[in-house]
Amino acid sequence: MWGGRFDAPPNELVARLGESVSYDRRMYAHDIRGSTAHARMLARTGIIPQADADAIVDGLAAVKAEIDAGTFVWSAALEDVHMNIESRLTGLIGAPGGRLHSGRSRNDQVATDMRLYLRDEAAEVVRLLRALQAALVTLAGQHTDTILPGFTHLQHAQPVVFGHVLLAYVEMLERDVGRLTDASRRMDVLPLGAGAMAGTTLPIDREWVAGELGFTGGLCRNSMDAVSDRDFVIELVSALSLMMMHLSRLSEDTVFWCSQEANWVELGDAFCTGSSIMPQKKNPDVCELTRGKAARVYGDLVTLLSLMKNLPLCYNRDMQEDKEPLFDALDTAKLVLAVYAPMVASIVVRKERMHGAASDAALMATDLAEWLVRQGLPFRQAHHRVGALVGAAHRAGKGLEAFTLAELRECVPEATEECLGLWKPEASVAARDIVGGTAPAQVRAQVAFWKAQPWMAEGKE
Ligand code: ARG
Repeated sequence: MWGGRFDAPPNELVARLGESVSYDRRMYAHDIRGSTAHARMLARTGIIPQADADAIVDGLAAVKAEIDAGTFVWSAALEDVHMNIESRLTGLIGAPGGRLHSGRSRNDQVATDMRLYLRDEAAEVVRLLRALQAALVTLAGQHTDTILPGFTHLQHAQPVVFGHVLLAYVEMLERDVGRLTDASRRMDVLPLGAGAMAGTTLPIDREWVAGELGFTGGLCRNSMDAVSDRDFVIELVSALSLMMMHLSRLSEDTVFWCSQEANWVELGDAFCTGSSIMPQKKNPDVCELTRGKAARVYGDLVTLLSLMKNLPLCYNRDMQEDKEPLFDALDTAKLVLAVYAPMVASIVVRKERMHGAASDAALMATDLAEWLVRQGLPFRQAHHRVGALVGAAHRAGKGLEAFTLAELRECVPEATEECLGLWKPEASVAARDIVGGTAPAQVRAQVAFWKAQPWMAEGKE
């Protein structure tokens, strides 16, 4: 493709170092889509004869059919997906194939292909995320009255309902969807026409190509920027990294919930593995692998950031190294999401075990402090009194619920009969009846909000 200037073929190891077709071939459909639009435009603008454009468009369809069918012979000597396709095109249709690359460079071609490819991939990740959100919302809807301890510092803090916990993750994933959609919108501009870096002398029609390829944001305004930045790749992988961070935390929580110490949930057998030595084991491997895969996606992000940081304008061959971390991050995220939704759907909840853990009256200590605030006591004083009470209970080796009113009054003189009713976790959650609170009524309203989202209905099909 560029042999004209050279006397010797590339060194064999250089060819091995430089080939990308072994992994960038996955963009073939997008490459062919971009080339097809480019060829049509070249004919519309009179840059190449219509008959040649027709031959190119038909030839590209034939190449695509070969690749789809698995009969296409990829050649590492032809470096990348772009040169493989162009070479086969010319092999099929002859001379007109040589006109396809008019007014374009692989630099604007690869930037276009990646944007087309990522637009589709981002949409697929969002679809998978929606399915996971739907599974979480469905489970949350079944557990708006299921009480368990909420934690801070992994210490029992206050009772919450399980639906509230699950919806916290739905919120996180909602922001992930927002970030992916936003990144997708920002990358939706056409680089083609930037040429190698300065544009082209040929009278191409970029607007037409942008419309044909569905770039809703129109054109990249600056040819040098168009071929030299990969911020859109980094942005997407960064959104995936955040998403993996969320899934990793959900996994960490789930591992704990499945532990013998908690024994609050059980995952479906299909989502666990056994031990080759300990017959009783049922391990939450999906959760653990998700935590591990998060590290891997962060690695991809750091690779991409490091790759770009010292590159002068415009295109540099280093940038070919953007693909493997990008593809790895996408493959990893999609696989994790795909397995996660059915795993969530397989969860069996042990309500009584959760409730038992949330029934220690110490979890309701804040409720008593806030009761005192309602009687007019400043919160700091209230906190101090209840703290003293908890200390007394600890020394006496008994629970707060075992205190008589008289004993209660030794630390909390303002206490009345009403205080003895504060120790029920049901009362505690029900009392947190503000927007965003864990009261079952609030959580039911949140579930209703999520169930009204259009993607909830899609999941049911
Ligand atoms: N395979 C190359 C890449 O992904 C395509 C662009 C090559 N451009 C060049 N001037 N060698 O970066």
